[in-house]
Amino acid sequence: MAHKVTLIPGDGIGPEVTAAAVRILEATGVKFEWESYAAGADAYEKYHEYIPKELTESVERTRVALKGPVTTPIGGGFSSINVQLRRQFELFCNFRPIRNLPGVATRYPGVDLIIIRENTEGLYSGIEHEVVPGVVESIKVITEKASTRISRWAFEYARKFGRKKVHAIHKANIMKLSDGLFIRCSRNMSKEYPEISYGEHIVDNTCMQLVTNPYQYDMLLLENLYGDIVSDLCAAFVGGLGLVPGANFGHECAIFEAVHGSAPDIAGRGIANPTAVTRSGILMLRHLGEQDAANRVKYAVHSVYREGKHITRDMGGEASTSEFADAVIEALQGEVWREQAERETNPV
Ligand code: NAI
Repeated sequence: MAHKVTLIPGDGIGPEVTAAAVRILEATGVKFEWESYAAGADAYEKYHEYIPKELTESVERTRVALKGPVTTPIGGGFSSINVQLRRQFELFCNFRPIRNLPGVATRYPGVDLIIIRENTEGLYSGIEHEVVPGVVESIKVITEKASTRISRWAFEYARKFGRKKVHAIHKANIMKLSDGLFIRCSRNMSKEYPEISYGEHIVDNTCMQLVTNPYQYDMLLLENLYGDIVSDLCAAFVGGLGLVPGANFGHECAIFEAVHGSAPDIAGRGIANPTAVTRSGILMLRHLGEQDAANRVKYAVHSVYREGKHITRDMGGEASTSEFADAVIEALQGEVWREQAERETNPV
């Protein structure tokens, strides 16, 4: 039976990278029925809505979406489609595995980190107003409910996948009430998981610690804004934004999307790296219970990087977006993945 999946190609490089990922996912032999919808400025032109009703209904029906990036206007205009979708479907957990690919030389080989970002509140609550001209307020909302829910998700993941350590990242020395509540919830949760080591680090120190020695961390648990910033920092450990996948999980639905944005500087040229959205597709295959197909795509991507002949410009190669996808599809025919898959717990 085909998996019904909502496809949100997005804009900028979104349609290019999602088309490549869709070709790769279909080449596994897993059957999909895609329901494709625009979002953001493109959707507004067609439907006069930034998130069309049809898109919302599709996600409610399929409960799974693969999404390309959507441009958000800066300092005005409509509010972020990504933030709205995460809130609308209560996708409280943003899951971002950071892991080196074979054959990609970086300053930090062997990084294997999991970032868990609270996805529904913090400063992303979007509660802003002008008090008087020249003075604005942005309100940071932290609740016990959301902080406990994300902490449980992180510790459950650690337990299920044999991860050893969770660090809650905060600024509770300054934001004593809001970040104080966040770490109190994670600390309380940690007591239910005595086999997993638990630590708390202040966010600015964490950035310094990360670039000094990323290996000291295993899983990072962060409120929304810190998770956003630290994810991009960690992406640089493994080769950049073209590589790092992500998933937004709620209790009812999941939306899979890369960490990167719409990259307007390279959009429309066919040179964007589709690895991040393809690896988001691997996470989606796992979510759909297609573990064999997920492992096959994982090791096909690894083998393209190991070989190094068909990689995109951001990674020092010359391949176009579609040439990279062709190479992954060819590598999917290999059989080496099964033995490797048994030795590893990292999803991508
Ligand atoms: P960006 O991630 O789009 O680009 C940052 C840099 O990384 C650029 O130099 C870009 O060329 C490069 N890059 C990103 N993805 C790449 C890929 N797949 N292959 C090769 N190079 C890649 O970040 P930026 O410029 O801050 O944001 C652009 C727009 O994207 C903004 O409107 C922002 O709001 C939106 N955005 C959307 C997200 C989403 O839909 N989930 C997430 C992040 C940003």
